[in-house]
Amino acid sequence: MTRSKSLVVAFAAALVAGGAAAQGGAPAGDAAKGREKVQMCQGCHGIDGWRTAFPEVYSVPKIGGQHPAYLVAALKAYKGGDRTHPSMRAIAAGLSDQDMADLAAYYAAPDMKTAGK
Ligand code: HEC
Repeated sequence: MTRSKSLVVAFAAALVAGGAAAQGGAPAGDAAKGREKVQMCQGCHGIDGWRTAFPEVYSVPKIGGQHPAYLVAALKAYKGGDRTHPSMRAIAAGLSDQDMADLAAYYAAPDMKTAGK
């Protein structure tokens, strides 16, 4: 009991530390943390200045600059099976709600540029 309660407190503290108000009860995204997690996205959703050869030959949607709620919704849809693309399903299956929020905060930055015009 006490253990789960302290977990809730820690989670709430993390949300406050994250700054941005949580939208609709979802965890607040931390762009700095998201940045540490994007290595697994880079190969396909390459970023200008940190580009792999991959996006040139592989067509992936532009995710930089999208609304964070849209990105989280898309990742949840892959994880939940509403979207069926195999690679994105495999990726999303390994993401927690917090990972998704952090990644969305990172990719939603206005100056973010992913590959793909
Ligand atoms: C193996 C290549 C690959 C990797 C790795 C990958 N993606 Fe994707 N991603 C794709 C492809 C291909 C699509 C389009 C799938 C479709 O048509 O549903 C996509 C779609 C998306 C979408 C939906 C975009 C939209 O506008 O509908 C989001 C959001 C997304 N990816 C985020 C991520 C994030 C975040 C990561 C890293 C955690 C990641 N992807 C890693 C290939 C990849």
